[in-house]
Amino acid sequence: MYKNIEKKIFDYLSKHLSYERCEHSYNVAMLAVKLASVYNEKNILKAQIAGLLHDCAKYMTNERLVNFFKKNNKNLEYFYEIIRFSPYLLHSFAGEIIARENFKIKDKDILNSIRNHTLGRENMSILEKIIFVADSASYDRKWENAEEMRNLAKKDLDEAFFKILKRKIGHAISNSVFLCSQAVSTWNWYVSNNKKNT
Ligand SMILES: [Fe+2]
Ligand SMILES: [Fe+2]
Repeated sequence: MYKNIEKKIFDYLSKHLSYERCEHSYNVAMLAVKLASVYNEKNILKAQIAGLLHDCAKYMTNERLVNFFKKNNKNLEYFYEIIRFSPYLLHSFAGEIIARENFKIKDKDILNSIRNHTLGRENMSILEKIIFVADSASYDRKWENAEEMRNLAKKDLDEAFFKILKRKIGHAISNSVFLCSQAVSTWNWYVSNNKKNT
């Protein structure tokens, strides 16, 4: 499975993404591999691939993302609010399409991890949570508690996931920006299903 895929991904990333974005992608992959080994994720290669590819559509402008998305997606109704209020978030969904079309990734867990790395979703798999957390806590992230989250994630993935989700949602509220309903669903699902936080 996925023979020589790393080389293909590296070539794609270095051709399409800025140096900083490539560096971020490598860092996310590195942390994802580490977390996958901590949480006994069977296939560490999956964590590496999802980490490397999670931002593979990040080079597109908002306008290009919307056009790309309209061309490649039939279920546009679901994405209406994202297209209208937060089109940059489409990079996660467009990334899933690129992973599927360009890299022939068929593994649902990898595809979901790319697709949901910004907003999360209800009932996420371990790999999805790993990529979500690794994206916010990778070694290149300089926000106040990034290092603390990195360390916490190695001990308690759910707790790190919860704190990062809380920060993202709090950030949207304190900046008075649109809060996507998918993020709200993720929040509600997590709060009502995780005994530690209820
Ligand atoms: Fe992203
Ligand atoms: Fe990212």
